Amino acid sequence: MKVRGLSGLGCLLLTMLLPVLLAGCDGLQQSARSAQKAETETTQSQQAEPDQAVHPGKRLHDANCISCHDAAMYSREDRRISDFTLLQQQVRRCDANLGSRLSAEDLQQLTAYLNQAYYHFSKE
Ligand code: HEC
Repeated sequence: MKVRGLSGLGCLLLTMLLPVLLAGCDGLQQSARSAQKAETETTQSQQAEPDQAVHPGKRLHDANCISCHDAAMYSREDRRISDFTLLQQQVRRCDANLGSRLSAEDLQQLTAYLNQAYYHFSKE
């Protein structure tokens, strides 16, 4: 009699607790889901940002121009280039030495990049 009373009470308790437990669990799952969603959104916005920091001339330079000298050439103490026209000529001369035959547009990008990064000449 005593035992049956207890189990009856246990059963009642369980019936009362069950929805609470389930609700609690559901709530947890929901917050986990929204955290996951927020994470996905951040990743997407990071990927959407294009890489605009690299000058197109730098890519050309790093791909073609560092076999004989590195960028230290452009900031050496006795550097020979003293205006924009000379810079254009030197870039063309080096391209000819290299045999890379870059297009006029590529040479222009290269010159613009070197000028922006190292020489800072005003373009006549
Ligand atoms: C075949 C080897 C070689 C390659 C490849 C080469 N260069 Fe040069 N470059 C030289 C040499 C040698 C000098 C030094 C010339 C001098 O002192 O008169 C030089 C000097 C320069 C200078 C002048 C530096 C100064 O004194 O202010 C610039 C600018 C330059 N190079 C740009 C380039 C670019 C851009 C490319 C890629 C298209 C390139 N170079 C590829 C050999 C090369």
